[in-house]
This record gives sequence, structure tokens and C-alpha cells, in this order.
Amino acid sequence: MTTELPLAVIGGTGLYALAELQDIETHQPVTKYGAPSGPIRVGTLAGQRVAFLARHGEGHSVPPHKVNYRANLAALQALGATRVLALNTVGGISERFGPRVLACPDQLIDYTWGRISTICEEAGSEVLHADFGDPYTPALRRSVIEAAKVSGVTLVEDGCYGATQGPRLETKAEIARMRRDGCDLVGMTGMPEAGLARELGLEYACLAIVANWAAGAGPDPDEVITLDDVLANVAAASSGVPKIVSAL
Ligand code: HPA
Repeated sequence: MTTELPLAVIGGTGLYALAELQDIETHQPVTKYGAPSGPIRVGTLAGQRVAFLARHGEGHSVPPHKVNYRANLAALQALGATRVLALNTVGGISERFGPRVLACPDQLIDYTWGRISTICEEAGSEVLHADFGDPYTPALRRSVIEAAKVSGVTLVEDGCYGATQGPRLETKAEIARMRRDGCDLVGMTGMPEAGLARELGLEYACLAIVANWAAGAGPDPDEVITLDDVLANVAAASSGVPKIVSAL
């Protein structure tokens, strides 16, 4: 089924629904890549139809390395989505990206391994070499930045996202290396999602929610990262998310 669907949102850790969606229809599509992480809720927000999918499933049962990123994106595309806003919970590495900051990164580095990272996986599929110099769609990033401005939400307008394998968190040495590499943020789900979106011809941008200082990166280098802290910071920071989505 293809309908008018101006925006799809993929929610990350701590973001399992968009409470503001009204008149919700639920879809459970199965794609040629298999089933997505969970049901897709399509509802109305600020007068537009918006689709929402919880990347880890609504009960957070799918770890980052097991997410069927291809099925998630293909399912949203089959419902008519052309623009995808990815919400990613991340750790902050550089100073501007402390807990509870919202950011719209413009670059990424991929440290993941062993994930299906292309739609050219199956024998006989066309070989694509998608341009990925700017991994996030510049026009959609501009719209996100503008949406934050008009809705009065503070947003860091750039940054480099480092995608790690997880599900464990990083060592201090890994974060120190990522800092040397130029990463500002670290998360486990930014790739292969962004690359697949490009291969599928979807516009794609990331709205990153900083949940914690990455290992050794904050003022207390020995701080232990707990899931409770992560979820509390995501809950506190994510009040700006529906405002940005509505303005988009
Ligand atoms: N590392 C990787 N992924 C994350 C982190 C982190 O510190 N916090 C939230 N997602």
C-alpha cells in the first residue's frame, strides 16, 4: 500500500512511541528482507500523517546488532515514506555533547562489523556504489535544524557520529581512539541504517539524544554508565523531539 506519508520516525532506546500521534493505524508489513522490529504506527501529528517504528521493538527486545535495518526501512518505504528521521540515543565524546543535548550530526564513522549493510547482499541483486560523502541528506538536515529553531528547541547543528557494534558499551581506550578519529558522539545503531537509507533512495537524517558521557569522556572519567541514567536523561531530553517532529 502506498499513501501520502511525509515523514517516518524511527525511535531508539528510551523512545518507543510518539505519544502525540492521533488516529493511529497499525501496520505489520513483511518485506523481502523479512519483518521489521515491530508494528508501524501511522498517525496524525500537526495535521500530517507520520509513521513511527521502534527500532528495538516496542519492548526493547532487539539488540543493536540484531536489528533488521533493511526490513525496517523497506517497510517504511512500502508505506509511502520518503523521508526518515532517525532518533538515536548516544553517548557524548566531545565537550559540546554532554548528557541531554540534542544534536543533528552531519558526519559519521562506521565501526560496526558483521551486520548486513547493503541491499546488494543477495545473489543477482544490482551492485550499487551509493555516494555517501554526506551520509545524512543535507536538505532534510536543514529542515530538522529549521524545525528546532521555529519550535524553540536547542539543537547542536553538526557533529560526527561513531557507530559501534555493541551491545556492550565502549572501553575508555576505544572512546579515546574515537575522539582522535574525530567522533563527537557514539551510538550502536547509526549504521548500517544510514547507508541502507541512501541505497534505498530515502532521505534520512539523525536526531541524536545524548544520554551519557561516553566512557572516560566526562568530567568524572571513572563514572559508571547505568541504563537507569541513560533512560532518565533520554526522558528529560526527549521533550523537544515531538516539537521538532511537529515542525518538520
Ligand atoms: N555508547 C554507545 N552507545 C550508546 C551510549 C554509549 O555510551 N550511550 C547511549 N548509547
